[in-house]
Amino acid sequence: MRFAQRLDAVPPYLFAELERKIAEKRAEGVDVISLGIGDPDLPTPEPVIEALAAAARDAATHRYPTNHGSDEFRAAAAGFYRARFGVDLDPGSEIVPALGGKEAVGHVAMALLDPGDVCLSPDPGYPPYTSGAVFAGAEVHYLPLRAEQAFLPDLDTIPEAVLRRANLLFLDYPNNPTGAVVEDGYFERAVELAGANDLVVVHDNAYSELCYDGYRAPSFLETPGAKEVGVEIFSLSKGWNMTGWRAGLVAGNAEVVEAYRQLKTNLDSGMFEAVQRATVAALTDARDFPREMSAVYERRRDLLAEALAAIGLEVEPPQATPYFWVPVPDGHTSASFTELVLEEAAVVVSPGPSFGPSGEGFVRLSMTVPDDRLEEAARRIESSLRSGIIQA
Ligand SMILES: Cc1ncc(COP(=O)(O)O)c(C=O)c1O
Repeated sequence: MRFAQRLDAVPPYLFAELERKIAEKRAEGVDVISLGIGDPDLPTPEPVIEALAAAARDAATHRYPTNHGSDEFRAAAAGFYRARFGVDLDPGSEIVPALGGKEAVGHVAMALLDPGDVCLSPDPGYPPYTSGAVFAGAEVHYLPLRAEQAFLPDLDTIPEAVLRRANLLFLDYPNNPTGAVVEDGYFERAVELAGANDLVVVHDNAYSELCYDGYRAPSFLETPGAKEVGVEIFSLSKGWNMTGWRAGLVAGNAEVVEAYRQLKTNLDSGMFEAVQRATVAALTDARDFPREMSAVYERRRDLLAEALAAIGLEVEPPQATPYFWVPVPDGHTSASFTELVLEEAAVVVSPGPSFGPSGEGFVRLSMTVPDDRLEEAARRIESSLRSGIIQA
């Protein structure tokens, strides 16, 4: 058999690799604690489950859904954006369901990029920001995220020649993997850059609902002019513990929304109507649920920050997202630290370079395990370091 070359053009998917390693260890009987993947451990809120169960019993949901999304879905999404972000969206033309944020990232890239185009992707970044572009035959130009620039890409140093060929700029704040939040005025600068260079901004908003210390993350669409230059991908996965449900949406610029929808009509047949009704319940009856989850993660964040500081690992506790972006101890690379933590402490972390070359020197830890497991993971890392087993 011969397979398409595009499959060789992307590395093995980070989390598929991690899952394989975890399964291998568990098959050996090892009690592995995985802080590698941002997959919430707590259940989806009850009103969402009830809405799905009731909808599944209604035969009207069993048929092909409309690719535009139901009127109720789009009205609920518009209501949520208005109440949460103060953003007005036309439910008829500026909102469409997505089968999770990941699907939207990949397909938006396919809808916007041709071979020869450039995609501006944060480095380190969520892996589909590069694989989506590569599958579209485009070139990726990395925008490094550095601690000294608050993990925001420097939009003023992108070479002119690159900007001329670029048609898509991915941004995501609160950020995966660094946990950084956006600074005031940054989205305004992105809108300006996009307007001046005929560039589409795709803001991937997977984490705005998980915030701590009273911080409330903005939507990109709150920025004046944002709708003229871009869209936002919003996901229910993390805030509502719905990673398995594949529920999200694309909102903003009507032309981009329509191009994405058109592409998708050729590839999938829309979101299961029962999942749409469940999403409506999340965005209405369970609208405040992510605040409860934020309280849970805030507690875990404090616990983990303290434990890592005690170990001597220098950390900046995040104000949002379930992630810690941790510089590895002196003498280690991301890979050597990841490997040793797995082998000696049976704790899985994500090596920074899996998110792009600028991730070297860091690992990402996810707080999506119960408090006692988080404490246990920190204890194990600590005792391994103390006993000198984990050394460069
Ligand atoms: C930045 C970012 N975008 C999108 C997603 C995808 O979320 P989903 O496809 O579950 O909506 C994730 C998941 O981890 C993410 O970190």
